Amino acid sequence: MKTLSDADVQGKIVLVRVDYNVPIVDGEVESDLRIRASIPTLKYLLENGAKKIVLISHLGRPDGEKKAEFSLKPVALELEKVAKSEAVDAEIKFVPDTIGEMVENEVLNAKDGSIVLLENLRFYPGEEENSDEFAKAIIAATHAEVFVQDGFAVIHRVHASTSVITKDLPSFAGFLVEKEVKTLKKATENPEKPVLVIIGGAKVDDKKPLIEKFLPIADNIVVAGKIAADGYVPESEKIYVVKDFVLDENGDKPDMGEESVQKVIEMIDAAKTVVWNGTVGVTERPPYDKGSRRLAEEIGRRDMTSIICGGDTTGFVLKVQKEQPDLKFTLVSTGGGASLELLSGLELPGLTALE
Ligand code: 3PG
Repeated sequence: MKTLSDADVQGKIVLVRVDYNVPIVDGEVESDLRIRASIPTLKYLLENGAKKIVLISHLGRPDGEKKAEFSLKPVALELEKVAKSEAVDAEIKFVPDTIGEMVENEVLNAKDGSIVLLENLRFYPGEEENSDEFAKAIIAATHAEVFVQDGFAVIHRVHASTSVITKDLPSFAGFLVEKEVKTLKKATENPEKPVLVIIGGAKVDDKKPLIEKFLPIADNIVVAGKIAADGYVPESEKIYVVKDFVLDENGDKPDMGEESVQKVIEMIDAAKTVVWNGTVGVTERPPYDKGSRRLAEEIGRRDMTSIICGGDTTGFVLKVQKEQPDLKFTLVSTGGGASLELLSGLELPGLTALE
């Protein structure tokens, strides 16, 4: 896989696929994790003389139609804020289309050294159809000479901007993709032992491949959350299933009990690598976030490789980290599905396309 450091971007228009599929509530971006995570690549391109940067992304699932509620416009405003706070010295411009004459004019008229964000890729059916024609139309409209894939969270999809586009431009992995892939692959291929995997969440079927993949690798696997509360039956002695729970007024089991918390802390203490996917309680209903909070604090305080993945888990851990900035994690993954697939040993089409 060629990475950004191998690319010659001097004086070139660089097309960067980011994943700015961020939660938006009342027109405001709720989490800027994915926007912030794209900054190192943008900075590098500007510092290395890229003429212009054109960003492409999807937002939500508009199913190939132009739907105002899926516009990336609020994301452009958030990008401006984030760029400013990260000392990125570039003008940021939003173009309300993805291909065609207007895009071409706006890109050509943009100042050298500026960043142009195009409208939602998924407003065109060609994106999800992995259409060669659509990819070519993006390249034609933007006059792009180099392609950088930095949308880690979407590289498990076979779409025009993750797959076929790499056929027509010299293509490189951006720093976010490089960091996520390296860190996640190391966890399965060459992790520092002992390895502890904590699996929570609600859907057991989603987590089965992860459990199977880590059975020969991990020293301990903890199964918690709703999967444990529903009576998960372990297939190996390595798997510790949470047994004691905090009960709510309906007799449901929304959080893990103190005995299990202590037991998992002992395992964290012994581990050199922790992979955590899925919260261990119903974090959106405090006080049932206590178990997850305790684990986040224990992991974040230790000098170890810590990988946090899965949308709910990363959102929760970032919230705890905001309150306690001294907590440190090796990787808070930007990709829910992508990280799960990579850790489960599946091939990611967006990566294969870069090879
Ligand atoms: C995500 O949020 O997981 C990615 O942006 C991919 O989105 P998708 O599941 O709609 O393809």
